[in-house]
Amino acid sequence: MKIIIINGPNLNLLGKREPEIYGDQSFDQFFENIKSKFPDIHLDHFQSNIEGEIVNKLQQVGYSYDGIILNAAAYTHTSVAISDAIAAIESPVLEVHISNIYAREEFRHKSIISANCIGMISGLGIEGYLLALSYFKNHKS
Ligand code: DQA
Repeated sequence: MKIIIINGPNLNLLGKREPEIYGDQSFDQFFENIKSKFPDIHLDHFQSNIEGEIVNKLQQVGYSYDGIILNAAAYTHTSVAISDAIAAIESPVLEVHISNIYAREEFRHKSIISANCIGMISGLGIEGYLLALSYFKNHKS
């Protein structure tokens, strides 16, 4: 089973960035940890601060991966291009946010990608990625 975690802008700063909101663990640390928890899953990670690179990656993996876990970060609220890419591809996309976007500023309340995703996990911290992975593992088609 092949799953990829795609992280959007500023998520490369996890651990350093506003730790009161996003926690103090780096994504690399966390990624090693989840890989060891799911040894039978082929798990990849891609991060970019650039919208078009996220669109390119979705197109590249979107016909061969069993699942995509996407935290589009700020592009969640703005990117028609990412939303369209999710609609275009075949792999199911599960949206994840570390913080609860509905408990924050109003501009974060609207996700324009959600309608094209199979579901959303928001506000459960970095553990949200782990829950998303369990979902794909348990619903392998
Ligand atoms: C985020 C929430 C977004 O509003 C924000 O722009 C991010 C991270 C989250 O994981 O909580 O960069 O997607």
